[in-house]
Amino acid sequence: MSPRPLQIAFITSEMAPLMKTGGLADVSAALPRALARLGHKVTVFLPRYARIPFPPGDFAGSVHVPVDASPRSAGYYRRTLEDGLEVVFIEHPPFFDRPHPYGPSSNEEYGDNRLRFAFLARAALEYLRSRGQRPDVFHGHDWQAGLVPVYLKSFYWDDPALHRSPSVFTIHNLAYQGTFGGDTLDVLGLPWHFASGEALGHNGGISYMKGGIQFSEMVTTVSPQYAREIQGTEMGYGLDGTLRGRGGDLVGILNGVDYGEWDPRHDTYIAAPYSADDLSGKKKCKRDLLAAMGLPEAPSLPIVGIISRLVAQKGFDIVVDSWYDLLQRPIRMVVLGTGEPRLEQGLRSLAARAPDRFALRLEYDEALAHKIEAGSDVFLMPSRFEPCGLTQMYSLRYGTPPVVRATGGLYDTVEPWDPSTGRGTGFRFDNPDGTGLMWALDQALSAMKDRAAWKRLVRNGMEKDFSWDRSAEAYVAVYRQAMEKV
Ligand code: ADP
Ligand code: GLC
Repeated sequence: MSPRPLQIAFITSEMAPLMKTGGLADVSAALPRALARLGHKVTVFLPRYARIPFPPGDFAGSVHVPVDASPRSAGYYRRTLEDGLEVVFIEHPPFFDRPHPYGPSSNEEYGDNRLRFAFLARAALEYLRSRGQRPDVFHGHDWQAGLVPVYLKSFYWDDPALHRSPSVFTIHNLAYQGTFGGDTLDVLGLPWHFASGEALGHNGGISYMKGGIQFSEMVTTVSPQYAREIQGTEMGYGLDGTLRGRGGDLVGILNGVDYGEWDPRHDTYIAAPYSADDLSGKKKCKRDLLAAMGLPEAPSLPIVGIISRLVAQKGFDIVVDSWYDLLQRPIRMVVLGTGEPRLEQGLRSLAARAPDRFALRLEYDEALAHKIEAGSDVFLMPSRFEPCGLTQMYSLRYGTPPVVRATGGLYDTVEPWDPSTGRGTGFRFDNPDGTGLMWALDQALSAMKDRAAWKRLVRNGMEKDFSWDRSAEAYVAVYRQAMEKV
């Protein structure tokens, strides 16, 4: 007999295409779908941000949400996406009727984030409680949902509806910890002893990320290598001890790719479809990309593509500092990204030195992201750390071998090319500096000279299968482990 399908409550602050700042949105769109395909029932809880048209679904009532001393209530709107998958939008205009999810710009935080995301967690729980629906498992993502396990273990542990509900907490990026002032527990009415270092106390404040780690039954992160790295001091961001403490319950599950969205065989954003068996369309995509970026045609100069948030994590300071070496190489670069002003400025000055070879778009553009995956010859990701990374997996499928720093999910998904065996899918470097970056890029450029071997490398990458099904099954196994623990 196959095991009973699960009811899963999935709490997230982003979900593509409704609200996206990075890979969390892609995961929150694809993983619930993959779980539903396996026969499970998933309810995704997402704030109704200003960008999401109103009403986002059918009105499903409103409930008082006692998040702090002020009287507040949430309105709920349900939308069924497909069989087994619905989104419940949480409407509370004072908190969520804003264009951006976390701050007035990608470099700033809203001053009331501790209340906004406490509200997200509590509003999801209140919705289910008011309906007497106890899911089999709660699954929260990153610090924005870190209070879900904390609330479950406090106010709702003996609740007649939600009693003893197990939870799984997923770390997508340990660098963002949601750490707020010491008065936060007081404001939220949580027990004062949760301020201990064994609970939410962290660096003199209260960390929602730490709460998620400490109070959930199981903790996951988005690649096996990152699961190892965050238990060490270098990548642990001060939470390595906490994570080692939970080491037995910490599992690395590689993100998948939604090949419905990201596959050159049927991508409607790109100039021509192509596949591993017939790569001819890729040439058209390259021409189309050059036109979109305003670069002249020059078939002998390979295109290095970049799509990224421009933040310290992603290592673009290394690119900026390597400007001299980069300009010595016979390459062109196309960059799409937004982020920290110092990195945007650095890339701007690099582009200004060779405008016919270096094209830069400091904006968010979904269509252009697809065109860069398809039209580039290699894809560059010099991350200092990378929990999983999705764009390198997209580039593999688009026949655009990745050049990556050997860290986290990049390490797990990119196999170094070995010309003597014809195995491998890309190029990895260890040292996060210009020497490391140029070494790997030069390897790619010299591999490109052997056209037959390059074709083999391209095909190796295109044939890799990172679809969600396997990862979704791994999550189900973790959900069942969590359920056994309560
Ligand atoms: P992270 O979540 O750390 O930003 P990922 O590689 O997991 O990194 O996911 C990034 C996602 O965001 C990908 O889907 C990528 O295509 C997209 N993305 C990042 N920057 C841009 C941009 N400027 N325009 C369009 N898409 C972008
Ligand atoms: C985070 C990480 C990225 C990961 C994404 C989705 O934003 O930076 O590496 O792919 O979450 O899990």
